[in-house]
Amino acid sequence: MKLKSLILILAASVAPTLSAAYTNIVPGEAWNDKNGSFINAHGSCVFYHEGTYYWFGEDRTGSKSNGISCYTSTDLLNWTRSGLAFKADQAYDPQTKSNILERPKVMYNESTGKWIMYMHWEDGTGYGRACVCVAYADKPQGPYTYSSHFRPNDHDSRDQTIVRAADGSAYHLCATDMNSNINVALLAPDYLTPAGKDFETKTMRGMRLEAPAIIRVDDTYYCLFSECDGWNPTPGHAGWTTDPLGTWVVGENFCVDEKKKTSYATQSTCLFKVNGYDQAYVYVGDRWNKNDVGSSRQVWLPLSLRSGHPVVRWYDSWNLSVFADVDRFRRSAQISEGVNYKLIEKFSDRFAALDGTRIALSDDAEKAISFEFKPVEGKEYTYTISDAATGRRLESYVGNLRMADPTDALDQQWFLQLEEEGTYQIRNLESKKVIAISGASTLNGAALYLTEPGAGKHMSMGLYVDTKAYPTEPVAAMHTIAYREENRRIMAAQQEYIGQTAVESPESALFDYSIADGAVTVTLPTDGTVALYTPSGTLAATAQATAGTALSLTAPSGIYILATPMTNIIIRL
Ligand code: GAL
Repeated sequence: MKLKSLILILAASVAPTLSAAYTNIVPGEAWNDKNGSFINAHGSCVFYHEGTYYWFGEDRTGSKSNGISCYTSTDLLNWTRSGLAFKADQAYDPQTKSNILERPKVMYNESTGKWIMYMHWEDGTGYGRACVCVAYADKPQGPYTYSSHFRPNDHDSRDQTIVRAADGSAYHLCATDMNSNINVALLAPDYLTPAGKDFETKTMRGMRLEAPAIIRVDDTYYCLFSECDGWNPTPGHAGWTTDPLGTWVVGENFCVDEKKKTSYATQSTCLFKVNGYDQAYVYVGDRWNKNDVGSSRQVWLPLSLRSGHPVVRWYDSWNLSVFADVDRFRRSAQISEGVNYKLIEKFSDRFAALDGTRIALSDDAEKAISFEFKPVEGKEYTYTISDAATGRRLESYVGNLRMADPTDALDQQWFLQLEEEGTYQIRNLESKKVIAISGASTLNGAALYLTEPGAGKHMSMGLYVDTKAYPTEPVAAMHTIAYREENRRIMAAQQEYIGQTAVESPESALFDYSIADGAVTVTLPTDGTVALYTPSGTLAATAQATAGTALSLTAPSGIYILATPMTNIIIRL
């Protein structure tokens, strides 16, 4: 053999197989680190800290736990392995000399200056011990020191996560009661244990959800879940709250494209914010290979919270350029004359757009109709709504939605009935029908139509301002408690204006209620908390409801928000 070829062979055998730099995320494809090794980090946790993204996950060989790996990156595409931040044998069960560590979640405790890691801990013989394991470190990448493992407040705890509140307190969420309910527990100030049984609640009761993936934006906590079906993918679920120990609102599937029934063949694991934008977030899911967990794939997709409902769209391939326009369309803080707005449907996060003669949902901002809202003289909360490009107006025509030339008739007048989260139900004064999308189809291209109030859930439309065109128009702080409180005040004023004893809210169809003798009687389809709030947000009464069983709440006469896990409506007692 010639010397030159020998040198080449030797060089090839010692050089690491460096992979070319990634320019895109391809959800579900094998993803290697900068050394060309498969990224072994499942059930993961990703966050940004001081110029670096950290990615923690289950490091597995087959189904065996090696511990918790940590990778770092500055561009979210190309990752350097920094090693095991926590080794499995640091928390071995003394009897089995083994364990399984799953779903690591890491956060910083400002008061102690420590990084805290929560993991799902099992003894390596199955999923019966249902504990958490807690570890801490001085640096985000570790090494982490074992603190303890336990059942939080004595509850079985399997899939789990943690989240920090704006005031520095933190919560642990886990699937409990054999995965029937989600337990939410306040943590002690050092985050190493729960604060105790007086500071916890159960939510999503009886829904059999797991795989909680949570993010807080301002005052609102958005949480995604899977259904409970082992390693198999299921439809996604969403819930949100402004008080983790209070009432949670149950949302819908966060996936809105084809394959939403399996959440694009993923199980949720974490959500994180992308640095450098106001509204850019990422959904991380696992595409499990139950026969070889260590080889399971990662599915990262952009997450939108713009509509007030978490929405994850499918992309075959993407990179940060998808966020180029992410901060452009903002929830408007008011309806101004001379300003054009886009309408975004809440559950799909899609624009109302012209599609031939139909008005349909579209992902394409360029196709979105620019609507002009003109107040109708002598009426409150009532507008004509026209396409700024053509001057044609939304009209209810024999109960159908269409664009037509302007007239003074009632069929072109729309009452904008505000909801707590700042979206509107847009109701026609003549037909009394509400703009909605048909059935549960939130797919791109689904048509908007008019339907009876109460016929479905998809009737919440937000008004969005194009901040490129209107840089000085005020935008709503839509994830804050203050915004919701202000909306409740307006809702109460609207209710006074309508002057009915109880609003026939379309969403009331989600549960049964009746009002008599200063009491409201509610029957929910699931277990959950029911509460009465005054318009300024003071709690007037609350109780735990059992699915299918009527429950009454009383309060002095007045207007109240009736809060249920399904939705909130306004009533008058
Ligand atoms: C799933 C869970 C995974 C893993 C698996 C074991 O429900 O989300 O993290 O625990 O069960 O069967």
